[in-house]
Amino acid sequence: MMDFLKRIKRKLAAAGLRLKTRREARQAFRYDLQQFMAHAGALHLDRKSAACAEIIMGYHVLEKGLTMPHRRLGFGKGAVIHLVNLVDSFERRFGRDDQQVNHAIGVLRAYREMHKDSPEKMPRLDAFLAAHPDVSAAVEPHVRKDDFFAAHDLPFPAFAASRHVVRHFAAPVPRTSLEAAIQLAATAPSACNRQHVRLHVIDDHDLRDKLFVLQGGTRGFGQDADKVIVVTADLSAIRWAWERNDCYVNGGIFVMNLCYALHYCGIAHCILHWSVAPETDRAVHKLLDIPESEVIVQVLACGIPPDEFDVAASPRRAPDEITTWHGGSR
Ligand SMILES: Cc1cc2nc3c(=O)[nH]c(=O)nc-3n(C[C@H](O)[C@H](O)[C@H](O)COP(=O)(O)O)c2cc1C
Repeated sequence: MMDFLKRIKRKLAAAGLRLKTRREARQAFRYDLQQFMAHAGALHLDRKSAACAEIIMGYHVLEKGLTMPHRRLGFGKGAVIHLVNLVDSFERRFGRDDQQVNHAIGVLRAYREMHKDSPEKMPRLDAFLAAHPDVSAAVEPHVRKDDFFAAHDLPFPAFAASRHVVRHFAAPVPRTSLEAAIQLAATAPSACNRQHVRLHVIDDHDLRDKLFVLQGGTRGFGQDADKVIVVTADLSAIRWAWERNDCYVNGGIFVMNLCYALHYCGIAHCILHWSVAPETDRAVHKLLDIPESEVIVQVLACGIPPDEFDVAASPRRAPDEITTWHGGSR
C-alpha cells in the first residue's frame, strides 16, 4: 500500500513538473517570438543598425569571393550592384561616417582593381567609386602557412589576432592533431559544468558533400575540406524552461574555444552557420545519425591549408562602438 502511494505521488509530481515546464516554455518562447518580430533586422531595414548589417553581409560575400580558392574573374556581378545600391541608400539616409560602410567601399574598389584588365564595362561601379575617391582598396591578407600558424606560442593578443577562418584546404588533418585540439577545446566552461557539447566528426567525403548541400554555405571550397565537425549540444543537460537558449550558449562558447584549439594545433577551420529550416535540421540528424536529443549548434570545415593562401580581412568594430558603460565607470 505504501509503495503504491509513493508511486502515485511520484507520478503526480512528474505530471506537475511537466505542466509547469510547458507553461514556462510557452511563456519564454512567446517572449522570444515577440522580441524577434519587433527587432530582427530583416524586418526593420529602415533602422541604421539593420541597414549596416545588410551592408556587412554584402561586403562579406565579395570579400569571400576575392579570397576564395578556384576564383574566376567576373564573379559576383549581381552582388556588386546590390552592395553599391545598399551603400548609396545608407549614405543618403545616415551619412558617411561608418567604418564598416567604408570597408564595403574599400572591398568594392578591391573588386574593381582585380578586374582592371577585364574588357567588361562596369559603369555603375566606376561612377560609385569616383564619388568616393577618399576610400582606398581594402587589403585582403595573403599569408604563408608557416606565418599564419606562427603565433602558436605568442601571448594571447598576438595569437587571437592571428586566428582567421580559412577557406583553402590542401591536405588531410591527422586524427591525432584533431584529437589534441578537441582535448584542448574541452577546457571551455559550461553552465554548472554540465558539458552539454557533443562532437560528430565526419571524414567520409560522400557524407561531407551531402551535408554541405544541405548546409549551403561552402560553395567553392567545401569540396576541399578534409574533416567536418558538427557541434551539437545535448538537451538532456537542460534543467528548466528559462535555460531554453543554453544549448546554443554553451555550444557557442565551446565552438570559440575549439576554433582557438584548432588554430593552435595547426588545423585550418571555417565556421559554418546552422541557420536552417526545421526540415533541413531533421534531414541532417538522419543523414549523420545524430540523436534527436542533440541540438545542432554549428558546423566546422577543417583541413591543412596550402603553403600560401588568402584570408578575408573581416575588420572589427571598435570597442567603443560595441560597449555601453552603465554606471559611473572610472
Ligand atoms: C556563426 C557563424 C556562421 C558562419 N557561417 C559561415 C558560412 O556558412 N560560410 C562561410 O564561408 N563562413 C561562415 N562563417 C565565417 C565568418 O564569415 C567569419 O568568421 C567572419 O567573417 C570573421 O572572420 P574571421 O573568422 O576570419 O575573423 C561563419 C562564422 C560564424 C561565427
